[in-house]
Order: sequence, then structure tokens, then C-alpha cells
Amino acid sequence: MSTNAEAPVACDVKDLGLAEQGKRRIEWAFQSMPVLQTIRKGFIKNQPLDGIRIAACLHVTTETANLMVTLRDGGASAVVCASNPLSTQDDVAASLVKDYGIPVYAVKGESNEVYYSHITAALNHAPHITMDDGCDLVTTLHKNRPELLEHVKGGTEETTTGVIRLQAMAKEGVLRYPVIAINDAMTKHLFDNRYGTGQSTVDGILRATNILMAGLNFVVAGYGWCGRGVAMRARGLGANVIITEVDPIKALEALMDGYRVMSMSEAAAIGDVFVTVTGNKSIIAREHFEKLKNGAILCNSGHFNVEIDIEYLTKNASSRRQTREFVEEFALRDGRRIYVLGEGRLINLAAAEGHPASVMDMSFANQALSVEYLIKNQARLDKVVHPVPEELDRQVARMKLESMGVKIDRLTLEQEKYLASWAEGT
Ligand SMILES: NC(=O)c1ccc[n+]([C@@H]2O[C@H](COP(=O)([O-])OP(=O)(O)OC[C@H]3O[C@@H](n4cnc5c(N)ncnc54)[C@H](O)[C@@H]3O)[C@@H](O)[C@H]2O)c1
Repeated sequence: MSTNAEAPVACDVKDLGLAEQGKRRIEWAFQSMPVLQTIRKGFIKNQPLDGIRIAACLHVTTETANLMVTLRDGGASAVVCASNPLSTQDDVAASLVKDYGIPVYAVKGESNEVYYSHITAALNHAPHITMDDGCDLVTTLHKNRPELLEHVKGGTEETTTGVIRLQAMAKEGVLRYPVIAINDAMTKHLFDNRYGTGQSTVDGILRATNILMAGLNFVVAGYGWCGRGVAMRARGLGANVIITEVDPIKALEALMDGYRVMSMSEAAAIGDVFVTVTGNKSIIAREHFEKLKNGAILCNSGHFNVEIDIEYLTKNASSRRQTREFVEEFALRDGRRIYVLGEGRLINLAAAEGHPASVMDMSFANQALSVEYLIKNQARLDKVVHPVPEELDRQVARMKLESMGVKIDRLTLEQEKYLASWAEGT
């Protein structure tokens, strides 16, 4: 492992020797991030983050690297640690340290203990801004390092699960600074959660298993933004998609989108592949394991590895072995074999590369603009969860369209007047 003994920049990464490959991949991703490129140019010119210390807890991917570089070029001193033990791209971590001088604490496959020690290392930089993905950085700061809270001006949160945890903190009155819910921006969840998770989850399953999707019974648990995307892409490859839900409206939507909808107990008996993407726990549990077909493949794309009860499976397996990278076989006492991908952690980041850069372009544009907004406005923001200001959200959409060379119409004055009046009828 490379530590600060080998590099002038503080770090704990796997191998600084991987930096060259990481740099090439970071540059490749940057080409597909035109909105972030434009923001970076403005940041270089105006230095809106001058003197600001940022601790980011994000998946250490090529796209995250480009966000970190953008923040640094805006004047910030940024450090990054992993937001999941299995999502780090070790070559990217190495390059961030070696080529860009950004401290990184992240090693793919790190234990839970190391994962939290990396979060603590990032917090030791005494951030003014926290940038979180899942809320582990924020909860560790509040629980274990409250003396650092006095430095913090605000934070941002990338994902659905993190926003839910922050809202719980705000409700209990324990959140000590304002946080912007990046996930809730339209230009985030409509695209990143749906098209990003949709494509990259299927990509992760295919890279891990090389299965043929056509004709399989493919069960998606949760028909939220991510679930819709996963279902849509699996259907595109010819799978028979089955949805499980707890929300009657989402279940109805799935039904009318043309999917079969049933309970997990029913689906367990017929599914070939299962993807959980609910943000909830114990979605595939004891009663479902008992019904699974021999050879069933289970994976998760929700934020935490709590959706599949792997502990139960472990206790009840007569043996387990790694059959391929990211594929673990559990032999049950009744002779059935069940396969779990990527230890039940986010399969799109464990076995594939996460979302494509062009969709992270919008999510991270929201991150960069929201940090700038926080710096300017933190004094008047309450210590609760705030939405991304609508104007920023629309600005990101406009910039993305512009980068794609797409022009749209504008309301005429007559149309604006018509839409604002009640007088005109048939
Ligand atoms: N893999 C990734 O890269 C990635 C990207 C974005 C979000 N996420 C994570 O994915 C998860 C889902 O995010 P989302 O934006 O789709 O959330 P969402 O709130 O839009 O959807 C979640 C859905 O799960 C359903 N659900 C809850 N409990 C259930 C149960 N017991 N059985 C069946 N369905 C149930 C809810 O009714 C809801 O419709 C979160 O943990 C989020 O943080 C992962």
C-alpha cells in the first residue's frame, strides 16, 4: 500500500504505480463532462472556493476525480475518501495523489474498519464543506469528531439513502449545519439514478457473470428512480422483468409500464436474477432464500449492503467459494446453489465502473455549483436539508443541452400571458 511515506501528498491508496493508467482514464472521462468543463473554466477565473477546505466521501471513480480537480481549480483544498469499501478505482486514487496532488484515502476491498479510518483521515483535514454519498462522513463527524463541527459551513449529499438519513438527523434536531440534497435535483435523479444506475447495474451483472439476459426472469426490487432504469435496460436485453414494490402507486406504474408485479415471496420461486434497489433492508431474507431456484443470482444496487440478508445465507450454507471475480457461490444444505455478486454491495461500482461520465457530468455540476452556493449563502441557511436551488438545476439542464448542440423553443410573450391567465377558455 502507498502511504504518505512514499508521496508528498497525504494518502492511503493501493499502489501509486497505477497512476499513469488512472490519469489516462480520468482524462477520457473528462471529455464526456462538458458541463463540468465549463464550470471548471469559471472556477479557474473567479476562484469562488479560495481557501475552502473540502472533505469528500464519494465513490473514487474517474468522474469523482474530475470533480475533485474542478474544486481544487476553484481554489479549494480538497481531500477524498471512499464512500463504499468496494467502489474505489485504485488507479484513479493513485493518479489523484500523484498527478493532481489531491489527498486520497481509499483502497478497493478495504475492510469496514479501514473504511471508517479513511473517513476519519478525511475529517482530520478539518473541512469547511463536507461532500457525502450515503451520509457516513456526516454521521462520523457528528458522532465521533464533534470538535470539528465549528469549522463546517455546510455540506452536500449525493444519494437517496444519504438524504433520508440527513432528514432523520434534521428531524431529531441533531444536524449541525445546512446540507444540500444533490440527489433531489431534477438534473440528478431523473438521469443519474435512472439512466446511470440502469445501464451500469446491468453492466456490472454482465461483467461479473457473462450471462445471457434474454429469456431470464429478472426481478427488480423497488420501482423508484433506480429501479425504473434497471428494469428498462434489462427489458431491452430481452429479460422478462418482474417488479416487487411496497408503494401501491409505484407498483401500479410498473404494471402499466408493462412489467409483471408480484410479492417477493412469489418472485423468489421463479426468478433467475434478482437486483435489489430499494434503499431498504432485508429485501431478500430467510423466507425468500427458502424458495429460490437452484442457480439463482442475487445482487444489489442500493446504497448499502443490507438489502440481501447475506448473514443468514452465510449461516445456512454448507460451503461457499468464489467462482469468478465478484461471484460467490453459497451451497445450501438441501443441495441448491445460490450466487451472490459483489458481496451484496453496489454491483455497478463493485464489478463495473459506476455510471458513465456523461451522466455524472450533471450530478457533479450540481455538486460544484451547490458548493459555490453554500459558501455564498451559508449564513442565512438553516441547519436542515435544503434542495438544490431550482435556478441551478435549470442552469445545469441548459448547459447540458447546449453541450449537446440541442436548441429548444422559448415561450412567446403571448404564451406566457396565456399560461398565467384564467380568462381564455374554449
Ligand atoms: N447504484 C448506484 O450507483 C446508485 C445510484 C443512485 C442511487 N442509489 C441508491 O439506490 C437506492 C434507491 O434509490 P432511488 O433513487 O431509486 O430511491 P427511490 O426512493 O426513488 O426508490 C426506492 C423504491 O424502493 C421501494 N421500496 C422500499 N422498500 C421496499 C421493499 N421492502 N420492497 C420493495 N420495494 C421497496 C420504495 O417504495 C421506492 O419506490 C438508494 O439506496 C440510493 O441511495 C444507488
